[in-house]
Amino acid sequence: MVDPIEFRNALGCFASGVTVVTSAGDERGPVGVTVSAFCSVSLDPPLVLVCLDNRTGCIACFTEPDGGFAVNLLADDQREVSNAFAGPQTFDMHGYGHSTGTTGAPLLDGVAAALSCRTHAVHDGGDHRIVVGRVEEVRVDRTKAPLVYFQSSYRGLSEQG
Ligand SMILES: Cc1cc2nc3c(=O)[nH]c(=O)nc-3n(C[C@H](O)[C@H](O)[C@H](O)COP(=O)(O)O)c2cc1C
Repeated sequence: MVDPIEFRNALGCFASGVTVVTSAGDERGPVGVTVSAFCSVSLDPPLVLVCLDNRTGCIACFTEPDGGFAVNLLADDQREVSNAFAGPQTFDMHGYGHSTGTTGAPLLDGVAAALSCRTHAVHDGGDHRIVVGRVEEVRVDRTKAPLVYFQSSYRGLSEQG
């Protein structure tokens, strides 16, 4: 039996970036969820995945086959953006500037990169859903350093490549 606290502590030793996964939403407006469980999957075809808690209020916006969503890879000066989208849904993008990507999902201003995706597959992941997205639009700002999440704290990269 795995001790749940030790399990969380072990997972916290894996440094990740931070993303906000957005969707055009429904009649209430657009939605976004802060997600660190993001991973590249395939180059050809271009696939990525995000893991969403089954209890996420707006999860249906991301699991519809061929539905549009975007993965916004936050920059190191966007901790406030991460915190805003980790709270209850407000269906208004919290007032953050954005444009609309090819799928209709919002692309946040000031991010290091953004990927417009179509839902390619959804897999069972225990208390999460594994949502695989087929990437159809890429925006990159290579001048931005990424926001890093490690042991339950935000960090910045101390060294530039
Ligand atoms: C740094 C950070 C990383 C997070 N990573 C994830 C994640 O990978 N998957 C997930 O489902 N929730 C993650 N969350 C929590 C969700 O952002 C939060 O539960 C969600 O926005 C709540 O939405 P709801 O009110 O619609 O349920 C993370 C939160 C933070 C602050």
